[in-house]
Amino acid sequence: MAAILKPALRRALISLALLTCCGSAAGAATGQPDPERTPQHPVAASTVAWPAIVSPVPRDPKIEARIVDLLSKLTLEQKIAQMIQPEIRYVTPDDVRKYRLGSILNGGGVYPGGQKHASVSQWVALADQYYDASMDTSGGAPAIPVIWGTDAVHGANDVFGATLFPHNVGLGAAHDPGLIQRIGEVTGREVAATGLDWTFAPTVAVVRDPRWGRSYEGYSERPDIARAYAGRMVQGLQGIAGTPSFLDADHVVATAKHYIGDGGTEHGIDRGNNVSSERELLAIHGQGYVSALESGVQTVMASYNSWQGIKLHGHRHLLTDVLKGRMGFDGVIVSDWDGIDEVQGCSKDRCAAAINAGIDMLMVPDQWLPFLHNTVAQVGDGDIPLSRIDDAVTRILRLKLRAGLFEKGRPSSRPLSNRAAEVGASEHRAVAREAVRKSLVLLKNDKCLLPLSAHGSILVAGDSADDIGKQTGGWSLTWQGTENTKADFPGSTTVFEGIRAAVTAAGGTATLSVDGSFQSRPDAAIVVFGESPYAEWYGDLKSLAYRGPSEKGAEVAMARPPPEVNALADTPPSSAAPRAGEANRAGVPPDLALLRRLRQAGIPVVAVFVTGRVRLVQPEIDAADAFAVAWLPGTEGEGVADVLFRKPSGEVNFPITGRLSYSWPAGDPGSNTKPLFPYGYGLEGCSRQ
Ligand code: BGC
Ligand code: BGC
Repeated sequence: MAAILKPALRRALISLALLTCCGSAAGAATGQPDPERTPQHPVAASTVAWPAIVSPVPRDPKIEARIVDLLSKLTLEQKIAQMIQPEIRYVTPDDVRKYRLGSILNGGGVYPGGQKHASVSQWVALADQYYDASMDTSGGAPAIPVIWGTDAVHGANDVFGATLFPHNVGLGAAHDPGLIQRIGEVTGREVAATGLDWTFAPTVAVVRDPRWGRSYEGYSERPDIARAYAGRMVQGLQGIAGTPSFLDADHVVATAKHYIGDGGTEHGIDRGNNVSSERELLAIHGQGYVSALESGVQTVMASYNSWQGIKLHGHRHLLTDVLKGRMGFDGVIVSDWDGIDEVQGCSKDRCAAAINAGIDMLMVPDQWLPFLHNTVAQVGDGDIPLSRIDDAVTRILRLKLRAGLFEKGRPSSRPLSNRAAEVGASEHRAVAREAVRKSLVLLKNDKCLLPLSAHGSILVAGDSADDIGKQTGGWSLTWQGTENTKADFPGSTTVFEGIRAAVTAAGGTATLSVDGSFQSRPDAAIVVFGESPYAEWYGDLKSLAYRGPSEKGAEVAMARPPPEVNALADTPPSSAAPRAGEANRAGVPPDLALLRRLRQAGIPVVAVFVTGRVRLVQPEIDAADAFAVAWLPGTEGEGVADVLFRKPSGEVNFPITGRLSYSWPAGDPGSNTKPLFPYGYGLEGCSRQ
């Protein structure tokens, strides 16, 4: 086993083992002192120049005075209650009233009344109930509005009828920071329409190993796009700091997540270990936070992963010394869903280490009541200093005051709330369609096949062609993106529907035939195929080899042990990783067979790959005349047809401008193969006819 461990992993394990046994002597004991790889915790000193960031949201003396006053009116239990964020399935408005809880969230795939098709007014009504409970002073405690957080990570994706944008992997290929800001604005409006205050977005992960199941949440494998985008997304969501738009009625609080290094775990294992040096942590994984902070992001979510063997949720150096100290963050660090449970010595209902490390708000979905009692006791026992509690509550009150929650009033009284027309508005869908168009990347275009003429007869095949679930991916009405149908996304357009609209408008015909069979021979075939939906935890892969529809995304992956168990035991050493095509030895996968069959019939074949990440698809690329990557485009499938087809006049409709924000691999990470297509690659399509 030891022989196949990569040196970096071995080093991390050694330092972890030594840290547990012998404190800070790790470096010396290995005989190879490597200060950058020696865990910094609990040592505060750091040689890395984390930037000192001047937030565009200055301290407001009036707000600070109100915080001091409010804090003086809270008991210890009420202070700790402000720090707690349960999930709506496990907490009632009465609980909020009684315990004075500071926040609530709805998890992915959780809606008012458990109704997937909950209306905007049902969201607002529930928000009113929690809000009213928090403002009820009949028990004698001061009124402090509760703040409701939600995962609006590609649009308001838990809300029935919302506009869903391409996932971040596609947005990265668009290379358009202005578009990102507009997406943030639209998302903010759609969230505000439901009466909620806060989204857990953007994810600013820089993804170094696409086997990670959350790869599609990351804009790029490189830090420059994360940096260029994170701040603009924050500005879109929150409004521009220093102007009246900042956290006004049209905007919501943003979260930069998951701090830090989530995209850099070994083998791309979700919640795994990142063994970067501290310098790499800043230069690669930290860049999104730099621009998010420069735009005044008010919350940061801690990450499940470890850095050099230590879980971020307990990492005082990175949370407190670096983020709050050096980088000057004066907002709230929220923990991830039961993230405290990952910290050594902690459980879901107690974690002094996380609070002491710098977590201010605790996402404790169901164990919140024992957590409240345990934390009160831990302060009493001296395990958590009262000053830390006061600091956390100060930050939470500052967030609520800056967000205007004390003045915005009941959710139902706010200007945008209950405006059902905001959700999925046609102007919003137009922005999403533009994003789909700009995110499509063309990898191959033999004989100038694309863009196609819209006059002809077009066969549309493949099982992603007319499947809104595959097109929207994870974090789309359900957590893993599974079990979704067209009826769950009113107003949406599948890729096929978009093609049909474009072609019929020009007098052509488009026929859907998932298996590619046809009666009369088409002028061209478009085969739309790719990954099945998945999200965190269930989406990790051991190899990027693409096997076709037999891959069932989250449904199959759920049968596997949790990724942590996989981590060291059965990840194959990279030299043994399958290469492109090898996975097909057992038989030609159906997508590939379909592409080949159509081409053998002499039909020009366009492949459109629907995917949350780069995969090994050389055989599929070889089998098609043109190969385009649509990523996970969301609800506006017409954006694909916008670039695949010419105008009825024959002119180019839109040039194809998407360029890879991930290099396209020829083999699994570590296999030392050169990329099939380098970072930045992408063809424009032919202008001549
Ligand atoms: C995810 C976060 C998300 C949270 C709340 C966690 O499992 O890692 O990204 O914000 O759940 O749904
Ligand atoms: C996710 C939540 C989701 C829950 C389902 C969590 O890990 O973060 O968003 O609702 O699991 O049990």
